[in-house]
Amino acid sequence: MAKGLFITFEGTEGCGKSTQIKLLAEHLQAIGHRVRMLREPGGTPIGEEIRHTLKHSEQNHAMTAEAELLLMNASRAQIVREVIRPALAAGEMVLCDRFYDSTTAYQGYGRELDLDKVKSIIEFAIGGTKPDLTLFLRVSAEVSAERLRSRQSTLPFVRDRIEEADRKFFERVGHGYDVIAANEPERVKFINGAQPVDAVCRTIWEVVQPRLPKVGRW
Ligand code: TMP
Repeated sequence: MAKGLFITFEGTEGCGKSTQIKLLAEHLQAIGHRVRMLREPGGTPIGEEIRHTLKHSEQNHAMTAEAELLLMNASRAQIVREVIRPALAAGEMVLCDRFYDSTTAYQGYGRELDLDKVKSIIEFAIGGTKPDLTLFLRVSAEVSAERLRSRQSTLPFVRDRIEEADRKFFERVGHGYDVIAANEPERVKFINGAQPVDAVCRTIWEVVQPRLPKVGRW
C-alpha cells in the first residue's frame, strides 16, 4: 500500500487555516482518498489536555516560554506516534492544522527562545516524521488582528493565553514564518490568505494535486 501524504497548514491567527483544511479534506475525499484531519497542539486525548493547559486553563497565567515550548512538543511527540505514523502507514492523507513550524515561529521567533535549542527539541519530538508539504497561509498583521477581533466579537468569549500576547509578538511570528518559507521553498508553499475563500481553495488545490498518490479507482 502506498504511504499517505502528510500536509501541514501554518499561519498566524485568522489566516483561514481551519476553513481551508475542511475544504481540502472534502476535495480529497471526493476523489477517493481517506483523510485524517488533526490539530496541534492536541489531536490525541493526552494532547487535548495539554492544549487546554496551554491555552485556556485558569492556572496557566504564569507559564514560562520554556514550559510552553516543552508542552507543545510533548503534545507533538504523542500525536506523531499515536496517530500520524500509523495513519500514513495505512495510506491515509494526513492534514494537520499546525505542526513544528508553529514552534519555530511562535516559541523561536515570537518568544525569542534560542533557535538551535528549539530545533533540537522539535527533532526529539518528531523523531524524523516530517511533512511532505506545508501550506503557509500568509496574511498581514493587520488582516490577522482584524479577523481575530471579528471572530472574538461573534463567538462567546473564551480566554486564550497565547492570543493575549502583544502585537510585536505576532509581528515576530509573521517574520519567523517568512524566514521558514524562504529557507525551505520546496516543502513550504506561500499561499495568499487574504484572497477570498474560493480563490485560496483553488490555489491550494493547484499546489496539492500534482503531489497526490494515485488512488485505486482513478
Ligand atoms: P489554534 O489551534 O487556534 O491555531 O491555536 C493554537 C495556538 O497555539 C496558536 O496560538 C499557535 C500556538 N502554537 C504555538 O505557539 N506553538 C506550536 O508549536 C503550536 C503547534 C501552536
